[in-house]
Amino acid sequence: MKGTYDFGLVGLGVMGRNFILNVADNGFSAFGNDLDSEKVSALIEEGGDTQKVNASTDAKTFIEALSTPRKIMLLVPAGKIVDAVIESLLPLLDKDDIIIDGGNSFFTDTDRRDAYLAEKGIHFFGAGVSGGAKGARLGPSIMPGGNKEAYQHVKPIFEAVSAKYKGEPCVAYLGPKSAGNYVKMVHNGIEYGLMQLTSEIYDLLKKGGNFNNDELHQTYSQWNSGRLQSFLVQITSEILTQDDELGEGKLVDKILDKAKQKGTGKWTSQNAMDLGIPVPSIDIAVSMREISALKDERIAADKLYERPTVEHMDKVELEKLAEEALYFSFIITYAQGLHQLADASKEYGYELEIAEIAKIWRAGCIIRAGLLADITGAFHADATLPNLLLSPSFIQKVQGTVDAARELVAYAAKNGIPVPGLSNSLTYFDSYTSSRLPLNLIQAQRDYFGSHTYERLDRDGVFHTEWEA
Ligand code: 6PG
Repeated sequence: MKGTYDFGLVGLGVMGRNFILNVADNGFSAFGNDLDSEKVSALIEEGGDTQKVNASTDAKTFIEALSTPRKIMLLVPAGKIVDAVIESLLPLLDKDDIIIDGGNSFFTDTDRRDAYLAEKGIHFFGAGVSGGAKGARLGPSIMPGGNKEAYQHVKPIFEAVSAKYKGEPCVAYLGPKSAGNYVKMVHNGIEYGLMQLTSEIYDLLKKGGNFNNDELHQTYSQWNSGRLQSFLVQITSEILTQDDELGEGKLVDKILDKAKQKGTGKWTSQNAMDLGIPVPSIDIAVSMREISALKDERIAADKLYERPTVEHMDKVELEKLAEEALYFSFIITYAQGLHQLADASKEYGYELEIAEIAKIWRAGCIIRAGLLADITGAFHADATLPNLLLSPSFIQKVQGTVDAARELVAYAAKNGIPVPGLSNSLTYFDSYTSSRLPLNLIQAQRDYFGSHTYERLDRDGVFHTEWEA
C-alpha cells in the first residue's frame, strides 16, 4: 500500500487517534505514526480496515505510505518535541510536502519553523485545533496558517473533518506564517476569560443567593437555551449534576480550588502587553489561576482578616442580574481578544479577517457561543471595526446589560466576594467609553519628575513646564 494514503498523522495520543479516525470517517485514508507500538496497534484495531486507517512505529514506512505532496499533521506536545519530530521526518520528505503542527505551539516557534522548512522546500502550517478529544473525533474548529497555495491540498480534508455550523465548515485559511497559532492562542486567552467569569457568577449565586447545586444546574441550563448559549455554560450546567463517586454529594464541591494552566492564556496577556492592547479580562483570568495556586497562603490569610457577612439577595433578582452581567462580560472579553487579533494582524502582517475567525469559532471550539453569530455579523458589516464595542449592532446589547454588571460588582465588593473578571470587564468598558480619562495627571507627574513632556488639548506641539516653584 505504498504512496496511497491521503493523510499522515504523527502522535497517536487521544487527540491524534481521534483526529485520524475522524479523517477516515470522512472518506480519506490515513496513516498514523507513533514510537509507542501499543498506540499503533490500538489505532489499527479501532480503525478496522487497514486500507482506510493504518499505522506504523517506523518513520520510513509511514512516509512511504503517503501520497504526495504528503500532508503530515503533528499532534504532539508543544515545544522541543515538535522540533525533534520535524528533524526525524526531514530526511525522508520531498519538496512541496506539507507539515501541519496541530498543537498549541508558541507563535514565534511557528515562524522559526516556517522559515527553516521553507528553505528546504517544505510547507509548514501552524494549525490550532480546538474542541478537546471529543472535538477531534467528531469535528473540531481548526485555525490554520501558512502558505496559501499549499493550503489547497489540505483544505478538502480539513473542511470535511471540521465542525459544521449550519453546514458551514469551522475551518478557514487564516493567514501566512504563524497566523493560525496566534489566533488559537488568543482563542485560549478568551477561553480563560470566559471560564473565570462563569466561575465568578457561580460563586455569586452560591454565596449571594444560597443557590444549591441543583438550582445552579437549572440556572446554567436555562441560560444555555438563551442568549448565553455556549459550550462553557452548557458544560457548567452538566458539571453541577455530577455525583461524587468516592463520597457523598456532588463532585464539583470536592475538587481542589487550584486551577492549573499550560501557558496559552499567559502568552495572550504577555503578547497583548507587547502590542500595547489592553485585555484586562484575560489578564485577570491568568492572575486568578495564579492566586488560586497559592492555596496554603490563602488559608493562612483567611484567618487573619475579617470578611463582611454576606447579605443575601433575592434569588430571582440575583439570577436575572447574573444572566445580564455574564452576557455583558462575555461580550467585553470577546471584544478584547478580537481587538488584540486586529492589532496583531497589522503588526505581524497576518491580514486576518476577524469575521472569518468569529465564523469558524461558532462551532467545534471551546469558546463556541451563540454570541459568535452576532459577532460575525458585526465584522461582516464593517471589516475594519477596531473594537466590537464600536459596532452599532452591539450598542443595545451592552447598554441593556451594563447596569446589571454595575450592580453586581458593587454588591460583590460590599460583601467581600471576589469578582475580578466581572469588575475588570466593567472597568474596561467604562474606560474604553470615556472620552476623558485622568491620565492628564499622569502626564503632568511624568513631566514634573522626569521632564518627559506632555501634549495639550488646546494646541499642537510638545510641552514641558518647570513645575517646582
Ligand atoms: C481547546 C483548548 C485546549 C487547551 C486546554 C487546556 O481549544 O481545545 O484550548 O487547546 O489545551 O483548554 O488549557 P490550560 O491547561 O492552559 O487551561
